[in-house]
Amino acid sequence: MIMRLVTLAYIASVTAVSCATADNSTMSNLKVLVSSKDYPESGLKILREHFTVLQTTHLNFGEEGKKENYEELLNLIPGCSALVWLSHHPITNELLDRAGPNLKLVATVSAGYNHCNVDELKARGIKLSNTPDVLSAAVAELAISLMLGAARRFPENLQQVQSGEWEIGFGVVLGQEIRGSTVGIIGLGGIGQAIVRRLAGFEVNRFLYTGHREKPEAKALHAEFVPLDTLLSQSDFVVLAVPLTNETKLMINSTTLGKMKRNAILINVGRGDLVDQDALYDVLKSKTIYAAGLDVTTPEPLPKDHKLLTLPNVFILPHIGSATVRTRSDMGALAANNVVRGLSGKPLITPVLP
Ligand code: DGY
Repeated sequence: MIMRLVTLAYIASVTAVSCATADNSTMSNLKVLVSSKDYPESGLKILREHFTVLQTTHLNFGEEGKKENYEELLNLIPGCSALVWLSHHPITNELLDRAGPNLKLVATVSAGYNHCNVDELKARGIKLSNTPDVLSAAVAELAISLMLGAARRFPENLQQVQSGEWEIGFGVVLGQEIRGSTVGIIGLGGIGQAIVRRLAGFEVNRFLYTGHREKPEAKALHAEFVPLDTLLSQSDFVVLAVPLTNETKLMINSTTLGKMKRNAILINVGRGDLVDQDALYDVLKSKTIYAAGLDVTTPEPLPKDHKLLTLPNVFILPHIGSATVRTRSDMGALAANNVVRGLSGKPLITPVLP
């Protein structure tokens, strides 16, 4: 329902954007800075119709994002009215200072906004938007890929194919099924709900979820609201789909891992810092839980000699949850439409700080 409302608001905003030509003459002088050279055309097109668009010539990712691109951002940002932020590099006070008082809005092209220096934006009266919902399907598909990959031991099996040394036999490399399992979702928001909906054909026995409060959407999904401890002790798959906050940081640690079943599989599509990776290493190594599937780690990239990568029972992907052509394009467009609305004094479509 909420998803539908957001989508309707989004369609309305696209219509509003195309009707907003009366404002365009005044808005076209406003400078909008795009923080990475790989921002999708879907967003650039919208921004260029309304504003003077500045864009860095580097990637705002990895070391380039921390060095050359950051320097370029510092040079380009003075006087900009909005900043379109790609990547999870932090938005620093230095950058905000350099922007000056014209900066009215930051539009992060991500659902998560733990990198956005939210308290500081708030203190400075700068609005913040993100891009939830449009990425839920892609992230949910990836979460299910991780469930399958960890349960059916993809890393070990791929290794066998690559080395040409297959374990042959009827009783080797046996995995687990989603069929008949209990799937526990920590955080039944847009992504969590999309995961449950997509698992409908997998013959899951029970869906459990936990969070601050019961979700009205849960009834139709046949998901039972339970305390965290119940979810941990009863789930065969524990799926992390919560944002990273002070409260959720390291919520999966030696204590919570110790409550999980021996055959449990931990899936993380949220943020690496939700999990104490040393504690996770220990329980995977000692086979106190069965496996883990992680799309997010700390740090990113995970160094290739990281101890987690020595384990056969962890399936790690390089933070690609939303990385599909369609979803990245939708995220780019949504961020741009938030900028158009924000700078023309209209409510943001997906506000974090309205
Ligand atoms: C998000 O949007 O927060 C995803 O992690 C992809 O960046």
